Amino acid sequence: MKTVSVHTGTKYDITVKNGVLDETGAYLRALTEARTAVIITDDIVDRLYAERAEKSLQAADFQTLKFVFPNGERSKNIHTYTAILEFLAQNRVTRTDCIVALGGGVVGDMAGFAAATYQRGIDFIQVPTTLLACVDSSVGGKTAIDLTAGKNLAGAFYQPRAVLCDPETLSTLSDRLFSDGMAEVIKYGVIFDRAFFDFLCENEAKENLETVIETCVQLKRNVVEQDEKDRGLRGLLNFGHTLGHAVEGCSDFSVSHGSAVAIGMVLAARGAYLTGRTQADCTEPLLKILRKYDLPTATEYSAEQLLARALSDKKRDGGSITLVIPKNLGECVLQKVSTDALLPFIEKGLGQCM
Ligand SMILES: NC(=O)c1ccc[n+]([C@@H]2O[C@H](COP(=O)([O-])OP(=O)(O)OC[C@H]3O[C@@H](n4cnc5c(N)ncnc54)[C@H](O)[C@@H]3O)[C@@H](O)[C@H]2O)c1
Ligand SMILES: [Zn+2]
Repeated sequence: MKTVSVHTGTKYDITVKNGVLDETGAYLRALTEARTAVIITDDIVDRLYAERAEKSLQAADFQTLKFVFPNGERSKNIHTYTAILEFLAQNRVTRTDCIVALGGGVVGDMAGFAAATYQRGIDFIQVPTTLLACVDSSVGGKTAIDLTAGKNLAGAFYQPRAVLCDPETLSTLSDRLFSDGMAEVIKYGVIFDRAFFDFLCENEAKENLETVIETCVQLKRNVVEQDEKDRGLRGLLNFGHTLGHAVEGCSDFSVSHGSAVAIGMVLAARGAYLTGRTQADCTEPLLKILRKYDLPTATEYSAEQLLARALSDKKRDGGSITLVIPKNLGECVLQKVSTDALLPFIEKGLGQCM
């Protein structure tokens, strides 16, 4: 068992422990005298894990309610969000009750936003069941829903009271979903921690899930504690994301987020080296580890197509875009790249000769 404490505005612990799903009730009871715990989950996770969470909550003297919505990003919208709020109100859930977000990042983001806004905020805990949710979305307090104009456009910073990660629940993930989460895991190694990167190269992440999740959570925690509201340092976590989002967008989201981030990391590393923005060429080790974890490393989209998408990204700042550049494996910096310099950067990133 591993515990990581997060000291943001609200302090909370992240517990990484095999089987902790069956202790959800006991962990929550230690935090609250709430009468009712509302499980919010999607249909797939409902079938797999909701009953165990429910039983454990009832054993700890909670009345339970459950709201289930169809799985997938398409549910992360204002309609599901409103339906959750109406469900809470119709069931007379009070501000002293509690929400349990059981599922992947979609559940966590949406249940978190509902918790942040229902009666101006009620307690919630995260019980992440995808690798991405364990290492990324459940940590840091960003909650959101998508709007028609784009992803995560409405949301709030709202910290959970606790995060309970049960690595055993990841055993039911498809290989694709596991690899997607691995893109974010590898990202942490490149940004912050060379030794962790090497560990992932030399070992199988699947066989070391507690350690892998704990390390990622600690690394994200360190950044979030210093920059809770995402005004600077937290931008480092976007390594591979600006160009990754461009790939995702060009594919009309048929390329998964993790795959797009994998490609984005390669473009950023190679582009940074070949345009002389860094002395270290991290491309080869990156290609090797991404292949090991069954992630793509190249895209068929042209530099012009990617540029157009990148420039429509919300992180654009006047005449420049901030990119995360590896100074070395395990150490990244934020660097402004003028929009004029972005096309050659992407061309070099794609490995195109000019
Ligand atoms: N808040 C943040 O800081 C943050 C960070 C990164 C990503 N996100 C958000 O997270 C979302 C992506 O998260 P995700 O990849 O977990 O997606 P997801 O929640 O849609 O889960 C992916 C799929 O896996 C299924 N699933 C979940 N747990 C399972 C399990 N244990 N076994 C089998 N299937 C399971 C789900 O039903 C779903 O179909 C995006 O909406 C993204 O914007 C948020
Ligand atoms: Zn990501």
